[in-house]
Order: sequence, then C-alpha cells, then structure tokens
Amino acid sequence: MIDPHRPQRRRRVLAVATGLTAGLLATAGALTVASTADAATTLGASAAATGRYFGTAVAAYKLSDSTYSNILNTEFNSVTPENEMKWDATEPSQGNFTYSSADQIVNRARAQGMKVRGHALAWHQQQPGWTSNLSGTALRNAMLNHVTQVATYYRGKIDSWDVVNEAFADGGGGGRRDSNLQRTGNDWIEAAFRAARTADPAAKLCYNDYNTDGQNAKSNAVYAMVQDFKSRGVPIDCVGFQSHFNAQSPLPSDYQANLQRFANLGVDVQITELDIEGSGSTQANSYASAVRACLAVTRCNGITVWGIRDSDSWRASGTPLLFDNSGNKKAAYTSALAALNNGQPTDPPPTTTPPPATTTPPPSGSGCTATVSLNQWNGGFVATVRVTAGGNQLTGWSAGLTLPSGAAVTNTWNAQASGSSGTVNFANVAYNGTVNAGASTEFGFQGTGTGPGTASCTAR
Ligand code: G3I
Repeated sequence: MIDPHRPQRRRRVLAVATGLTAGLLATAGALTVASTADAATTLGASAAATGRYFGTAVAAYKLSDSTYSNILNTEFNSVTPENEMKWDATEPSQGNFTYSSADQIVNRARAQGMKVRGHALAWHQQQPGWTSNLSGTALRNAMLNHVTQVATYYRGKIDSWDVVNEAFADGGGGGRRDSNLQRTGNDWIEAAFRAARTADPAAKLCYNDYNTDGQNAKSNAVYAMVQDFKSRGVPIDCVGFQSHFNAQSPLPSDYQANLQRFANLGVDVQITELDIEGSGSTQANSYASAVRACLAVTRCNGITVWGIRDSDSWRASGTPLLFDNSGNKKAAYTSALAALNNGQPTDPPPTTTPPPATTTPPPSGSGCTATVSLNQWNGGFVATVRVTAGGNQLTGWSAGLTLPSGAAVTNTWNAQASGSSGTVNFANVAYNGTVNAGASTEFGFQGTGTGPGTASCTAR
C-alpha cells in the first residue's frame, strides 16, 4: 500500500484545429472530425475527443521554466495546483487569505481554456500552524469558514473541487482516520460538502483519497459514505482516486470495476493524482491500463497525472511520470496517448462529425440552431449553450438569449457577450467561429437570478 505522505468499435478522431492548444479544443466543444487514419497528437486533445480531460498537477514556481510550461500548454487541458490551494497556502494566518500563487495557475489555465481541479479544501495535512491551537467547535467553524471563503473566491472557475481529502484510515479497519478534523465530530465531511455547495454551486464536489483504487476495506468505507450521502441528499458529485502506484502497490486488477461501482452510485469518478513508479514497457503498459480503465467507465471524467517530468514528482527517484527529466516523452507517454486514441466517446457523446458519406445527405437548413442546458440553483445558474451548424459550414455565429426579469450574466466563457440582462447576444470568439456543417461547439455563462431556457442562433 502506498501512503503518499511517506516519502467495442473504436473510432479515431483528429482535432481539426491542431494549431490550437489542447485546452482551447476542450472548451471549444472539442470540435473534431472523425478519421480512420489519423489520431489526436496530444494527451489533452485526445482525451477531449471522448469528452474527457487529461490534466497535470502544476507548481506555480515552475511556470517560468520554459520546458515545463511548453509541455503544459501543449499536452494538457486541465490543471490541479499541487500545493497552492491547500489550507496552509491560502490561509496562513486565521482569517487572512492569500491567493497569489494559486491565481498564477488558475488565471493562466483559464486563459488557455483549461479546466481547473481545486485541491484541497479540507485535509488533515498541510494545515497552517494556527489550527493546532483549535479544537471542537472553534476548529469546525474555522474549517467551514475556510471552505466557504476559498470556494467563494474561486466560484465559477473550478471544474471540480477536492472538498475533503484522505479522511479514511489505512488498514483493514474500514473506518475514519483520526485527525483534528475528525475529532470535531463524524459529520465534519458532510458539513464541508454543504458549505462548498453553497459557496460554488456549479463546481463538482469530490471526495479524494489514495489506496482506494481497488476494492478493499478502505474503498468499501468510502463507498458506504458516498452511498449514505446520496441517500440523505448530502451534496457530492464525484470521487477522486489518487492512483499512486508502484511495485508494492501496483494498479489493481479490479481498478475499472472499482471505478464503475462508484459510478453506479450516481457520482462521477476521476483519476486525480496518477503516477506509476518504474520504467520501460512495464510502466508503459500500466499507464495504458489506467487510461483504458477510465475510458471504459462512462462517468470517468478524466485523468490527472501528478506532475509533468519525473523530476517534478514528489517521488522523483521512482521516475513515475510521462516525461523524463529533460522533458522528453517516455514510452509511458506513447502508450498513454495510444490508449487514449483508441477510446470510445463518452455519454454525452463528443461533438464529432461523421466522415462524409455519399449515401448520407447533408444536414438540412443553412443556418444554425442553439440549445440551452441549465444548471439552476436558488439565486443563480450556469447555462451551457450548444451551437450546431446546419447544412453549411459556419464561419461565425451569434446566439441570442433573453434573460427573465432580474437575471444578469456575471461570467462568460467561449463567447463574447454584449450586455448582461434582457436579451443578451453571445458571439463566437476567434477559436470557435468555424463549425463544420452538422457539427457543434459550446459556450457557457454564469448568472444571478433565473436562467433562460431557449436560445436563437444566427450565422454571421
Ligand atoms: O515551499 C517550501 C520551500 O519553501 C521549502 O524550502 C521546502 C523545504 O522542505 O519545502 C517547500 O514546501 C514543500 C512543498 O511540497 C513544495 O515543494 C513541503 O515541504 C512539502 O511538504 C510539500 O509536499 C507536497 C505534499 O503533498 C504535502 O503533503 C508535495 O509537493 C505534493 O506533491 C503532495 O501532494 C499530495 C496531495 O496533495 C495529496 N495526495 C498525495 C500527494 C502526494 O503526497
């Protein structure tokens, strides 16, 4: 067992805009065309072709390293701040919050259209020194205030939050880990999840842990908690499987089955901190197996590796990552990418355009249509709008949405909004104006009040 704190028919897809970053592709709705001959050439673009992300842990202080940032920009479409969002980093003294390091990562990622996984709101490790003076209600309230403040600050910017990290004990007991947070009462985990939901209703809220990758006493205990939360309406959307593997703790043979049993509870699953010690074909085969397991589970949203180069790893001597110390692709990279390129689309399917077939007529209508899917909560909403081209390729589009009285747009992605209330027009941005006949792209916006249910579309 690793304790991370002791040191089908398969269709290949080709990203149309190969000059764009993987991140742009991902948020541009993964505009893709099918090809039997070609495959995506980066991890992020390939994952996006099945509606998933491929991310990495990022350290803010390494962003000025050009080898590091070039690989990041080219290969990945999601990031997780490795340490910068932890309690000790964001609230070094009680009530004083500091986000400068985390912001460097978040702002840069979002500017490139990448997703951000938030890590981690409540954890027994990496706590600031001042928490050791607190216990009971004072510590519980400090923890809840921390969750609320940080999740509110990043509201609308985080795809998934690790709300609670590593709260279960190792070994066969199947119980909670003893910690200062656990000693505030067994309901501390659900209290943290409720606070996070209130602070950022649009983020997916995850429980994240290690040595839960196969079925065992620890993963059974997490499973029981998720089942209990779902039955009582405690807000939980996803479970993160850290997936730190080595010879003593290899990728379990029931990895996929374990991901699937959690997904069957009605939560998404994510591989959150993947690294596999080793080298050569053994390591490469394990990476391919991990990728295939995620692709085989519809609700597996994506994979994050815990660093870029071996030298960036928290356990660098085990050479557990996809790039060597110089930034060269390893055999593990090649096999992970190959496994991704053989993946099947997830549900909902990606926006792929079937290859032109002489027997199939083109889609009817020359303009475009727009459909809205709404995530509404009391007082706010996130709208995702899908723009679909008719029988002709679009070279620009705009979507009009009329907001109910009192509603206002506060934040838009993948489109340029004119106005914020009443009828708001959203025009394409540079990278998603071209949409092939019958294909789709997506944009989104967040707002206060009640969101709109319908949209019109104009080709321009
Ligand atoms: O930034 C200081 C630096 O100023 C100082 O000189 C140096 C001396 O030790 O320490 C630096 O901080 C270290 C930090 O990493 C940044 O490198 C901390 O000591 C060190 O404890 C910290 O380790 C991190 C570890 O979590 C903390 O528990 C690792 O980078 C990080 O990869 C690791 O990540 C965890 C996940 O959050 C949860 N799951 C397990 C995973 C691996 O342990």
